[in-house]
Amino acid sequence: MKRQMLIYNNNEFENIINELITNDTVQNMKNFRQHFDISCFDHCYFVAYYCYLICKKFHLDYKSVTRAAMLHDLFLYDWRDRNSHPRFHAFHHGKTACENACKLFELSQKEKDIIIRHMWPVTLAFPNSIEGFILTFVDKYCATQEAWKTIKLKIYSKSFFRYAYLFLGLLVFNIKQI
Ligand SMILES: [Fe+2]
Ligand SMILES: [Fe+2]
Repeated sequence: MKRQMLIYNNNEFENIINELITNDTVQNMKNFRQHFDISCFDHCYFVAYYCYLICKKFHLDYKSVTRAAMLHDLFLYDWRDRNSHPRFHAFHHGKTACENACKLFELSQKEKDIIIRHMWPVTLAFPNSIEGFILTFVDKYCATQEAWKTIKLKIYSKSFFRYAYLFLGLLVFNIKQI
């Protein structure tokens, strides 16, 4: 919630992606889950925001990376359903996302490259720009955060795990005291 409020207060960020997020096809990303319970739309939105912050801070091309990040997982299928897409989703979805994005928006060569190569190092092709590299790291960071958030919720919702977590916390605390 705190993270979303920060984003909503950032007018420059919202202006950059407004054209993208008001598009019906991009909105449709809300209907596809990405990591655990996070939709493709929310995942891309958070990745876009962190890419924006980092690239702006270091005086890089923050507009291109923000736009590319918002579209980087525009593959529009349920990747868990093996019948809904070609095999090897991890290797191909960057290209699929770029093709889908190009049907909707005018993208620069740099933006296309960032989207297509965002799965590095799973795919071997290096991004051609520093902004592309930044997106690959932010993408992995957000995926890890999203996974951890869901795992934590699952742990807290089960009393056995809750007590085990508490016990482990006390154990670590006692070890630190020794
Ligand atoms: Fe992806
Ligand atoms: Fe992603």
